[in-house]
Amino acid sequence: MLKFLVLSDLHLVDENETSHGLDTHLRMQKAVDWINAYHKDADFCVLAGDLADVGFKGATDPYHRLKALVDQLDMPCHITIGNHDNRDTFVSIFGEDRRAETGCIDKVVDAKGYRVILLDSVVEGDDHSHGGQLSQRQLDWLEARLAEHDGPVVVILHHHANPLHVRVDRIILEDGEAFAKVLKTHKDVRQVIAGHVHFTSCGLWHGIPFTTLAGNHYNVTVPLEVSAKVDRLWGPAQMAVVLGNADQTLVHFDNYLEGNAVLG
Ligand SMILES: [Fe+2]
Repeated sequence: MLKFLVLSDLHLVDENETSHGLDTHLRMQKAVDWINAYHKDADFCVLAGDLADVGFKGATDPYHRLKALVDQLDMPCHITIGNHDNRDTFVSIFGEDRRAETGCIDKVVDAKGYRVILLDSVVEGDDHSHGGQLSQRQLDWLEARLAEHDGPVVVILHHHANPLHVRVDRIILEDGEAFAKVLKTHKDVRQVIAGHVHFTSCGLWHGIPFTTLAGNHYNVTVPLEVSAKVDRLWGPAQMAVVLGNADQTLVHFDNYLEGNAVLG
């Protein structure tokens, strides 16, 4: 049985700083301790972006602090980035080999008959946007990676692609339809897992299961009325635990920090 963990939205900060009043580094340390205590049997873990809180504004220390946290894990840690990150900063600290031939932080991980594909959905440059994008080059790369694998596939990226019909859809993956069309070229895509939205959701879109997880940072209330106020909540902070064999792919949501007080 394949077992891997997905964590997202770490939003790490400089030493002695917080984000929305939360010590995100301490929270991530709890996640690492939780993994080492309860998930030692996992094959690997995945970080699905928003590693730093303000990497896109030039912060570098959070990536060094992340590297020290990752070094505490007894398993491989595969990483992609999110809209709060900076691609060049990330590779300057984690290594140029984290960049795929697409130029982005994309990756293929093959394990126990599964292919797990990480995609970097970040838009950088003058048009930096908190929305997401996959370039045509990435979509072509994805189609090729899907075509060469017969077995089950799980795809992980930072941005949600399926509309969730809440306000956060303003920063959804652009042209999710093109992404779904490529996914549909494969007969056995078991899950598409994203972070970004800071809440948990499960859906079936274009016949493919799409999941979002709440991450390491604040959780949010999910008003279905798009103009309603969204409250930030202290927690829970959670990781997804993915179990997979030939018959089933299962996603558990494991809360490593409990509590849902509204943040001021
Ligand atoms: Fe994000």
